[in-house]
Amino acid sequence: KEYFNVLGIETSCDDTSIGIVRSDGTILGESKLSQWDIHKEHRGIVPNLASEQHRLNIDKSIDLALHEKFKDGLSIQDDIDVIAVTTGPGLAFSLQVGLEKAKELSRQYNKELCSVNHLEGHCLVVRMENIELEFPFLTLLISGGHSQILVCRGVSDYQCLGNTLDDSIGEALDKAARILDCEFGSVYDGHQHYYNIHGGEAIEILARRASPDANERFKFSIPMKESKNCDFSFSGLKSSLKRYVDQLKSQSGSELSLQDRCDLASSFQNTAFSHLENKLKKSLNWYYGKSTMDGKKKNKKLSQQQEIAGTETMPKREKLNGLVVSGGVSKNQYLRERLETLSKEFDLKCYFPSPKLCTDNGTMIAWAGVEMYNKGMVTKDLDKLFYIPYW
Ligand code: KG4
Ligand code: ZN
Repeated sequence: KEYFNVLGIETSCDDTSIGIVRSDGTILGESKLSQWDIHKEHRGIVPNLASEQHRLNIDKSIDLALHEKFKDGLSIQDDIDVIAVTTGPGLAFSLQVGLEKAKELSRQYNKELCSVNHLEGHCLVVRMENIELEFPFLTLLISGGHSQILVCRGVSDYQCLGNTLDDSIGEALDKAARILDCEFGSVYDGHQHYYNIHGGEAIEILARRASPDANERFKFSIPMKESKNCDFSFSGLKSSLKRYVDQLKSQSGSELSLQDRCDLASSFQNTAFSHLENKLKKSLNWYYGKSTMDGKKKNKKLSQQQEIAGTETMPKREKLNGLVVSGGVSKNQYLRERLETLSKEFDLKCYFPSPKLCTDNGTMIAWAGVEMYNKGMVTKDLDKLFYIPYW
């Protein structure tokens, strides 16, 4: 067979998602069963409910993907060559459900298994959609769980240049939406109601209705501007937002006006994105030897990441072939425009996954499986394979 097909399983958080990808990057089937309704009433993800739902949904999700594009369905026995599964990072018992299913299928049908790092899934999926993109490239990975800057040198060969010291950017946007009294999962911008959206998207929608002087009305200072490393911090921004909101509420003795909420959202978003830009610039300047970086040892999360990265020192600095922006927050249209501009300054092409591949999905895991299988990176002993929540 010229091509091979990979079935990818993603259950690291709250979506049970399957993707089936041919080794040339053609998507043969996809499914995603959301748990939104279950977690909504708790206004956040409840881990034991999440794993329970994965257990209820996993078989159905696989079946939906096998049948999505083929009326009679693909058969695992005849049409699937490799199983890929997210083994971390993520919620322990959610990861466990996916991994158990992957082992079961691998044993039952005698298929090779690839153990995929969720972050690697986010990083590599752009290569599925842009077959010309070669290593090395720089990735800004911005999601609900992570904010990282990574040099991607090859499959499973990463160097983490920056990480968040507190909240991830997605978390910060989600919390900001809550502070701005957005209903969980919906927002009204004075013209239209939007439903089933993330907090980050609610902020983006409100910000579009901001007045031209929003940044002057509400000033946020860009975090860690003077620091010499490439790490992020978002918790200070969140506190400033909270302070403004408390002030406004006590002045007016009532709820915030829609205009105040839009202006606050816009100025907050602007500052958070400037922070991302600053650290990206710092990373690029460091990579090209134009500046130094310090403070790395203070970052515990970073050293964990470096362990999986394998290599701690930068060998030869080859020219980067692009800037990849991935993870749920990379759906943000305004951010995309700003980063397009930044990457031009560095003479880099900017790559974004198509929107449905930005947020968690099984397809990116299947594609990472394609890349790993091509390199012979398969699990030899299933009994020794475990999930790794803090990978
Ligand atoms: O990648 P993802 O689905 O989950 C993780 O792996 O964590 O990312 C979810 C995050 C949420 O924090 C959500 O608020 C954010 O992505 N997000 C957005 C937008 N859409 C989703 N942030 C900013 N603008 C958006 N349009
Ligand atoms: Zn993710």
